[in-house]
Amino acid sequence: MCYAIPGRVTGIEGRTVTVDYYGESRKALCEKNGINVGDYVYAQGGYVLTRVGKEEAESVLTVWKDLFFELQETDVKLSRIEGSSDVDPYVMAILDRASQELPLSPRDLETLLSIERSADREMLFKTANFLRHKYLGNSCCVHGIIEYSNYCSCACAYCGINSGVDIPRYRMTDDEVMEAVHEAVTVYGFKALVLQGGEDPDFGPARLAALVRRILSLYPVLIFVSPGEVGIDNLSLLYQAGARGLLMRFETSNPGLYSALHPGSTLESRLEHLRAAYGMGYLVLTGSLIGLPDQTDQDLAQDILLAKSLHAEMFSFGPFLPAPGTPLALNKPVEPLKVSIVLAVSRLADPRNAKILVTTGFETLSAGARNEGLMAGANSVMLNVTPGKYKSLYSIYPSRAHIEDPLSRQIDETLALLKSLGRAPTDLGIS
Ligand code: 5AD
Repeated sequence: MCYAIPGRVTGIEGRTVTVDYYGESRKALCEKNGINVGDYVYAQGGYVLTRVGKEEAESVLTVWKDLFFELQETDVKLSRIEGSSDVDPYVMAILDRASQELPLSPRDLETLLSIERSADREMLFKTANFLRHKYLGNSCCVHGIIEYSNYCSCACAYCGINSGVDIPRYRMTDDEVMEAVHEAVTVYGFKALVLQGGEDPDFGPARLAALVRRILSLYPVLIFVSPGEVGIDNLSLLYQAGARGLLMRFETSNPGLYSALHPGSTLESRLEHLRAAYGMGYLVLTGSLIGLPDQTDQDLAQDILLAKSLHAEMFSFGPFLPAPGTPLALNKPVEPLKVSIVLAVSRLADPRNAKILVTTGFETLSAGARNEGLMAGANSVMLNVTPGKYKSLYSIYPSRAHIEDPLSRQIDETLALLKSLGRAPTDLGIS
């Protein structure tokens, strides 16, 4: 099973290598020694992970070749924009500008976010899907996530594992994390993994950094960390250990709303982490919660613009889902269509670069979320590779999608869906 196809190095300039995939050239950063023109490599998230033997590479590429072009053809067919007759002319004018990549104002984003007519909405989704196809082709990131601890010292009002909620707590041992990584990489072929936990003083940055080093000494994998606000020095420690991505949502761009939901912490401190991480070279994965109490379309438009201004490599926008035992337990979740709208508007705001994630939260809210999100501009999914006995305890919200599914079934279903949409489960790196 492979989630990234091997590419052939056709050029090297300093630390940047050019990699060819069936005639498409991509650039990737190479931090490894001994890679030469003509070598085959696996690249992920813009990084070369490892060299691949010629024989192995050629056999994978032969298996993939027909499928690769078949998938592209399906994607082309599904990405056409047709039938604009019923669309509100004002909405259409914004979408026309978006498809020509003319800048959209915050007001334009707000107008799109408040779309209510189905013809307008369908055209928004088609435009977003068209732009995704035009600039990023049919590749779809498939990252794995391991949730190593549900202990958390924070008191986020929406979060089902906040320190005040009475739930069974767990903390994986280092060896358990290593076993989960081993399975994900060697059995299932994951090339990018996220290590996420609550803000757990007993699984602090030093321990996480040591684990990242241990993982990278054994496996060619891109590591993202998601440990919460650990301080700038600790972000640097984790980067030095080899982590190359940080997943940290800013949750909302509205400072008042942020303070109301996060006792004892500020939006500014969150943003400092995200800006510092980008400065250090991390790939930044960030975004907000959709449907928070009192959140407006103006807030959501600002959320999208903030993610873009933070140089988000991946936009992670998902619905707020009421979690038992929290102050927001009785609030209503947002309509699933609103989530697709936010994903589509994100694509319009960052058509060329963004990886846009269909979150597990969205899948929990709506059974068809993956299909809907991927057809509305998204091009990434994350699979939960936390061991079965812990998965259900990471209860940030109830009834999380795929909690009962073994990893093999999650993978089969994901691949079948991607195939039906003409998407290749690859991450060909930065273009
Ligand atoms: N609903 C949806 N997402 C939630 N998160 C935490 N609690 C909830 C909830 N009730 C998300 C936050 C956090 C991520 C780890 O989980 O956005 O960044």
